[in-house]
Amino acid sequence: MCGIVGYVGNNNAQKVIVSGLHRLEYRGYDSAGLSLWNPDTGELDTVKTSGKIGELESCLEHELPPGTTRPIGIGHTRWATHGAPNQVNAHPHLSQTGDFSIVHNGIIENYSALKSRLLANGFSFTSDTDSEVLAHLIEQCYDGDLTRAVTAALEQIEGTYGICVISKLHPDKIIAARQGSPIAVGICHNETVIASDISAIVQHTDRVVFLNDGDILTATADDTEILSHKNVPIAREATLIDWDIGQIEKGGFDHFMLKEIHEQPSAIANATRGRLLLKEGTAKLDGMKMTSREISRVDRILIVACGTSLYAAMIGKYLFEDYADIPTEVQQAAEFRYRNPIIEPNTCVLAISQSGETADTLAAVREAMRKGAEVLSICNVVGSTIARETGRGVYLHAGPEIGVASTKAISCQITILTMMALIFGRTHRLSMQKGREIVDYLSQLPKLAQKVLDQETAIQAVADKYASYENAFFIGRGYMYPAALEGALKLKEISYIHAEGYHAAELKHGPIALLNGDVPLIGLALNIPGRNKTCSNLQEARARNTPVIAIATEGHRDIEKHCDDIIQIPECPEFLAPICVIIAEQLLSYYIAKLRGCEIDQPRNLAKSVTVE
Ligand code: F6R
Repeated sequence: MCGIVGYVGNNNAQKVIVSGLHRLEYRGYDSAGLSLWNPDTGELDTVKTSGKIGELESCLEHELPPGTTRPIGIGHTRWATHGAPNQVNAHPHLSQTGDFSIVHNGIIENYSALKSRLLANGFSFTSDTDSEVLAHLIEQCYDGDLTRAVTAALEQIEGTYGICVISKLHPDKIIAARQGSPIAVGICHNETVIASDISAIVQHTDRVVFLNDGDILTATADDTEILSHKNVPIAREATLIDWDIGQIEKGGFDHFMLKEIHEQPSAIANATRGRLLLKEGTAKLDGMKMTSREISRVDRILIVACGTSLYAAMIGKYLFEDYADIPTEVQQAAEFRYRNPIIEPNTCVLAISQSGETADTLAAVREAMRKGAEVLSICNVVGSTIARETGRGVYLHAGPEIGVASTKAISCQITILTMMALIFGRTHRLSMQKGREIVDYLSQLPKLAQKVLDQETAIQAVADKYASYENAFFIGRGYMYPAALEGALKLKEISYIHAEGYHAAELKHGPIALLNGDVPLIGLALNIPGRNKTCSNLQEARARNTPVIAIATEGHRDIEKHCDDIIQIPECPEFLAPICVIIAEQLLSYYIAKLRGCEIDQPRNLAKSVTVE
C-alpha cells in the first residue's frame, strides 16, 4: 500500500526522503513523488512519476539539479485506489496556489461531495484522486496557522488517512495526522523523520512515537507537538525499536523473500527463546497478560485474520482443539466485522496479523472489543496498531519481513499458536507429560526447519521441471489442508501461476474435472494421519495423466509409486508438519517464480500491508 516519508532538519531532505521511499518499496506501489521547499526561491519543488523509485531518481536528476540543500520535504509511494497509476495522480498534491503540498494514505470517502463544493468555490483539479481535495481544503481553511488549517480541513473528511503536509509559508514545519492509516515519528537530534512505516525510520533512530487515530502532529527539526482532535496537547511515549539495519537489507541474497525463507530457523528460535518451560511442560507468553484462572475460564476461541495469517489461524484451530480441547472458530476478518458475530462471555478473540495494520483485521479487533470480548493479538511489527490497541498480545520477534509474500511470519505465527495451545492446554486437560513432549519438539523446530532448507537444491530441480505450467493444484488433509491452501497462495502470488488449494477429499467433488496432463498436482502426503487416503487421491490424479509432486516424509520410499517427483521433509510430529511443508512450498514457489522472471519481492498489484478495505 501507499507509503509516506517526511523530513525536516539540517540534512538534505531529498536524500533522506528518497532513501526512505526505497525502504518502503516492499509495501507495493505504482508511482512516486516528492515535494521539497527550495530556500533559494522560497517555492515548493514537486517532482513525481509513474513507475518505480529509480524513475523518480532520474526525474530528480533532470528537474532538481544539485547545489541547493532543501531542508524540508515530503515523499510518497502510491498504490492506486482512485485514478490510474500515472504521473498526474501520483502524490504529492498541491493546493490551487501551490502554497501547500500534501501526501495521503487511505481513502477519503466523501471526496465527491467535497470536490463538487470546491469546484463551485473556484478551485480546479488536476488529478482524478480523492487526495487532491485535501490540499485545496487546507488552503481554503488557512488563516495564518498551518496546524489549525489542517485540523479544520480534516474535520470535513470522512474516511481514513495518514497524511503529511508542508507549506512554503511555514518552511520549518511538517504537519502529520492519522485516522486509520499508520504514521510513526522518529525522534532524532536536530531532525525529525516521519513515515508510514518504521522501516523508513530505523536508519535514523531507534526511538519512535506512533500516532493514534485523531492525533495531529506539528514537527520541526527540534520539536514535536501532538494535539488530539479536540486540540488538547497529548504526551505519547516513544517505543524503542530493536531492529538492526542489516535486517532490512538483502545480505547477499537475490531477493528478500529468499533471505527471509532462510532466516526461518533463527526466526523460530527467536520466537521461542525464553518462552518454553520444559520442566513444567508448558510455555510462557507474558504479553498475553492472562492469569491461569482467566485462561482456564476460556471455553471458546475465535480467530480473525486475512490471507496467509488466516491459514496460520486454521492451523491454530487444529492446535487449540487437539491440545487444549477448546472449540475454536476461524473467521476471515472482513466477514467477522460485517456479520454481527456472536461473542459469549468466555470467548477469547485472537487476531493474527504480521503487519498489525491490516484494515479488516483491525476493524474486527475493534468490533470484538466493542462487544466486550477479551482480545489477544499475534503480530510481528512492534508498535503496530493491532498490537497497541489489543494491549494483550504476543510478538513473533521474527524481525522485519520485507518481501511481500509472508514466509518467516507464517512459520513463527504457527510456532506462537503452538505455544498458546500448550498454555491453554496445560490450564485445561493436557498432561504434564504430553506438555513436555511438545516443548521438546518445539525446541527442535529450528533444526527441523534447517533440514527442510537443506533440500533447497532438490526443490530447485523440481521447480525447473514444473515452472512452465500455467495451473497447479495443492491437496492435503487435516493439518495439511491449510498448508495446501497456503502452498497455492504462495505459488499464485509470486509466480502468477493459477494455483488452487483443496482439501484432498474435495477433489472428487468437482475440481477433479480440471485435472489433466497440464495441471500438476502437489500432494501433501507426509507420514501423518490421512496419508493413505491422500495417496489414493494421488493415484486418482495420475490415472488422469496429471503430473504429481508428493511432499512426503523422508525415508518412506513407497510414496514413489504414487508420484512423479518427491520433495522430502524430515520425520516430524503432525503438529509441526505444516511448518516444514510450508517452508518447502516457499522454496518451490520462489524458484518457479525466479525461472519465470517474476518480480518476487514486489509482485504485481500486491501490497505488504493492506491498510484499506
Ligand atoms: C501472502 C500475504 C498476505 C498477508 C495478508 C495479511 O503471502 O502475505 O496474504 O498474509 O495480507 O497480512 P497481515 O498478516 O499483515 O495481516
